[in-house]
Amino acid sequence: MSKKIGILTSGGDCAGLNAVIRAAVHRSHLLGWEIYGIKDGTHGLLVDPPQYKKLDPNDFDGNIMRRGGTVLGTTNKGNPFAFPMPDGTLKDRSGEIIDNFKKIGLEAVITIGGDGSFAILRKLAQQGGINMVGVPKTIDNDIGCTEASVGFDTAVAVATEALDRLQPTAASHDRVMVLEVMGRDAGHIALTAGIAGGADVILIPEIPYSLESVNKKIKSVMESGRNFALVVVSEAVKTEGGEKYEVEYTDGQKRYGGIGNYIGAKITEATGSETRVTNLGHVQRGSPPTYNDRLIASAFGVRAVDLIAEGKYDRMVAWKNRSVVDVPIEEAIAAYQDVQPDDTLVHTARALGISLGDNDKVK
Ligand code: F6P
Repeated sequence: MSKKIGILTSGGDCAGLNAVIRAAVHRSHLLGWEIYGIKDGTHGLLVDPPQYKKLDPNDFDGNIMRRGGTVLGTTNKGNPFAFPMPDGTLKDRSGEIIDNFKKIGLEAVITIGGDGSFAILRKLAQQGGINMVGVPKTIDNDIGCTEASVGFDTAVAVATEALDRLQPTAASHDRVMVLEVMGRDAGHIALTAGIAGGADVILIPEIPYSLESVNKKIKSVMESGRNFALVVVSEAVKTEGGEKYEVEYTDGQKRYGGIGNYIGAKITEATGSETRVTNLGHVQRGSPPTYNDRLIASAFGVRAVDLIAEGKYDRMVAWKNRSVVDVPIEEAIAAYQDVQPDDTLVHTARALGISLGDNDKVK
């Protein structure tokens, strides 16, 4: 039976979003359904007229998969339940979104988001009786109940390549190179890229560090005869005294950023090494997706449509044991996934002699 479904991207962009959209478009077409792309996350439903368009499989050939970003646009601002108005007040605009969704006549919607987006979108879906399925995406890789989220693999590849590119300069100039990476409160990007990129020190928010330990490692590297060292710092790492490094943006929201400069300065101060700091920033989000992100995104997009065909809603597609499965969205939101002390990669890093800034005992 023909259906009319919607798809939107929400939260920060990342590599692989277009591959999800492409897969959902082709799978819907094969089932004889119409699929509509909603512009700019839920913001497309907060304007008059609502911003959406029918997605044609002819516009979604393989080339679109190579592109970073999202052809639908997205937003990580403006919670519809407390939407910032021009007069400075906050207004509940959830009803407008639900009304517009119903006006378009969509039977279900695929939302591609992270845990923050899912919490808001699920509340909207419940309030409006909207059939929703979720596709996990985030470079932070912090969504629970899935072994992979779209965008993480690419972010790690970019961070690893950054280390590959910093190393020659570090070695040529006898320097310590500090690389600050994103990840919000989870250290997955730093830990994964740090191991893959041959870092000497990896600092993540989940493992408290001491500057003494970091500097001891840098000194021991230099004493071993090597003239350079590589340090990876995750953005949510705090100062040794526990202060967060944040930047306040024009919208008043604070985001992490800048801890790399603090760590770099402290290393120079204690070791006398010449240190340079690179803050990788949004470069981690915008590059063409890796093959792995393209594959996961494609499998997720297909399965999301299949879930709608099966009438299974309020679920998130997930990656488990080399397959796509689906889990209740509620469980995925609740099961926030940061780096655990017994993580295989924590043990791997320590066993490789990489300092995590604590006492670095290998069990
Ligand atoms: O959640 C993805 C992420 O890139 C985080 O790693 C980072 O802290 C944040 O978004 C940056 O947000 P913005 O794009 O608003 O600067």
